[in-house]
Amino acid sequence: MKVRVTENYQHMSATAADMIAAQIMDKPDAVLGLATGSTPLGTYNELIRAYNKSRLSFSGVRTLNLDEYVGLPQSHPQSYHTFMEENLFKRIDINPDQTFIPNGMAEDRNKECRRYENLIDEIGPPDLQVLGIGRNGHIGFNEPGTSFASTTHLVKLADSTREANARFFQSKEKVPTHAITMGITSILKSKKIILLASGEEKMPAIKHLLTGDIGEKFPASALLNHPDVTLIVDELAYPATEEENDAE
Ligand code: GLP
Repeated sequence: MKVRVTENYQHMSATAADMIAAQIMDKPDAVLGLATGSTPLGTYNELIRAYNKSRLSFSGVRTLNLDEYVGLPQSHPQSYHTFMEENLFKRIDINPDQTFIPNGMAEDRNKECRRYENLIDEIGPPDLQVLGIGRNGHIGFNEPGTSFASTTHLVKLADSTREANARFFQSKEKVPTHAITMGITSILKSKKIILLASGEEKMPAIKHLLTGDIGEKFPASALLNHPDVTLIVDELAYPATEEENDAE
């Protein structure tokens, strides 16, 4: 895993956006794996800015999102469909028919999981996957304990994840209890992965990741098995070394 420590959130976002832009310039019909959450918002803003300056076109790009809540209609303000539409898709020239997100309203959820995994294989795997990280080390919605062999599946969200995401809902009770997420195996199919982390509340998770210990109790550690992962982290999320601590 390559590690790039950036000064702050803005630099982290610009660094990630540069890598994504380079991917699209290199391959205008690239498949991007996309994430939601607060962390990639700055990256998406940088991409929108590049598009507005006519430096980048998404007209040939296809996207596959990591996950979606179960039971929220696509039009719900907190659905990941709405998130992607508002924060990226409607502000660039991407073809809406070429953007894919699991359907959290599907009646047969297991069938939907199979359909989505097949889609990843059909149009993907992503040339570049963007990931954030949960405080408990989750990636997508793969909570601690998820099998590294998992493909797209239905998950019950951890209490800590529902608490962390309650800020987007009126209360924790309103946060859906389940989601459909790409599995660890699905994520590792991507050719290249960028993992973003910003802010001190992510520092313990990054510290854990950097120990190099691989295990299902800490889902993000599966990334250490992938040949092309870049962690882009800001200074607040980057753990000080022992020597730096001693110097203080
Ligand atoms: C959410 C998403 C993840 C995201 C993570 C961190 O639950 N499913 O894809 O990476 O939590 O979110 P944030 O970037 O808001 O801290």
